[in-house]
Amino acid sequence: MSGDVDHSWITLSSEALGKNVELIRERVGEDKMICACVKANAYGHGLREIVHQLVAFGIDWLSVFEVSDAVLLREQGIDVPILILSPVSEEQIGLCIKHELRFLVVEESQFEQISSAQDELGLPAYVHIPVETGMGRLGFFPSQVEDVLVAAQQQGIVVEGLMQHYATGDEKDSEYFRTQQMVFECLLDSLDQMGLTPEIIHAENSGASLIHPTISRSNLVRVGAALYGFEPSNEVTEILERNSQSLTPVLEWKSQLVSVKNLPPGMGVSYGATKVLEHETRVGVVPVGYYDGYDRGLSNTGWMMVSGKRCPILGRVCMNMTMIDLSEVPEASIGDEVTIIGEGIRLEQMAELLDTIPYEICTRIRESIHRKIV
Ligand SMILES: Cc1ncc(COP(=O)(O)O)c(C=O)c1O
Repeated sequence: MSGDVDHSWITLSSEALGKNVELIRERVGEDKMICACVKANAYGHGLREIVHQLVAFGIDWLSVFEVSDAVLLREQGIDVPILILSPVSEEQIGLCIKHELRFLVVEESQFEQISSAQDELGLPAYVHIPVETGMGRLGFFPSQVEDVLVAAQQQGIVVEGLMQHYATGDEKDSEYFRTQQMVFECLLDSLDQMGLTPEIIHAENSGASLIHPTISRSNLVRVGAALYGFEPSNEVTEILERNSQSLTPVLEWKSQLVSVKNLPPGMGVSYGATKVLEHETRVGVVPVGYYDGYDRGLSNTGWMMVSGKRCPILGRVCMNMTMIDLSEVPEASIGDEVTIIGEGIRLEQMAELLDTIPYEICTRIRESIHRKIV
């Protein structure tokens, strides 16, 4: 026993996750496989907890950023295909082959290393080639792809997948999206004619899958946000609402009051005394702060929920504690539950307060906070 108590905890709703998987399936159709994006600790939700549920729901593929995450999942008996969404180093190639991990190649010179690793291990590598159609990040330009595929073939390498990533997939009327899509589809047409098209084609993230579910010829979608039940953009929500559909948030982050007391008018609250009380105020202390991933930008702007009522943040968020105004819940006392993210305070609302995206908020929640599937 360490003697520590959980100052806060996270619950993950299996029902919500299942609903989101169903919604994605419904929108993209049964003929597209779903690759769940579980990088960054499953967007801060908890890699192990989320993956085991997803596999139970019959998810087809998983994608991570770190090879070590993929190896950990294999060690836990996860046997669905796993795609590494980053280039891998020479040292990692053997590990990927041994664990049947799919990985990206962004330098033609790597084919030689892959080929000798295959020979050494007597096992095939499964390579995916990213195409640079406008994200300005990873991949070969469309004009290079034919040569790349031929070079791989010559080295005895199976290119299993061809992918691209949309820069504006979460926008409804984006010319940029259409251009990226057209460039990719033209490339596929010409590869078809040469008999070079890989077996798996993937392009859409959550936004693109939900807004433009059927227009592309991909057979696998890579989705993160939609699975966790937060919106990639307002436009996605509008489109879903039009179809009477909605995403269901999976994560709830809770804590409890560790101190409650009345503070007099004129007293400042927290560092810098940026909040000076105008009248006597019932103030609660929540043992969660920026160390836990509760953003300091929420100082004097955010709120937490107690007994279904909004309790504004008073003063600056500290490293391990945050003070809240309990005026709306005068009966609140030590030990009462506090919702940090969940009913009454969604990731999207927090993101708006912080002028950022929900992705940034959930991925920053401290990894060691206890997560439980309910
Ligand atoms: C290459 C790639 N594909 C898919 C995704 C999933 O995106 P989303 O969470 O918007 O579905 C990401 C996320 O960052 C990504 O980098």
